[in-house]
Amino acid sequence: MNPSELVKEAFQALEHAHAPYSEYLVGAALLCADGTVFRGCNVENASYGLTNCAERTAIFSAIAAGQREFIGMAIAASGESTPYPCGACRQVMVEFCQQDFPVYVAKSDGFDTISLGELLPNSFEFGASDA
Ligand code: THU
Repeated sequence: MNPSELVKEAFQALEHAHAPYSEYLVGAALLCADGTVFRGCNVENASYGLTNCAERTAIFSAIAAGQREFIGMAIAASGESTPYPCGACRQVMVEFCQQDFPVYVAKSDGFDTISLGELLPNSFEFGASDA
């Protein structure tokens, strides 16, 4: 699957968002090494802090299904601004993806590509050494 098809999957995922509080719909599509795509949407809660972002929904679904190798992720959202992933989702990506992992953020005229290393440089990894 190519990046623009993955972006389309993210837009389809967005249709399932549960976002009655923010009314900001987010969809994510995660491409696995075996070609499987896991979709995620944001799932809000009346207790706001319990909200799960679209990106983490997709990653956790893939992990729960036994996937461990990821090729790329597309993100789409309602609204005008480019849907860069939040800090929490960046940190979760670091747990499972390499620095060159590509993230495709949807725009009105297509998408931009940014690597995980650019999104979260010098990230925390348990027990990692600088040497
Ligand atoms: N949201 C995501 O789904 N992904 C992000 O990376 C940022 C924020 C959701 C959470 C909440 O439902 C809504 O967007 C507004 O913050």
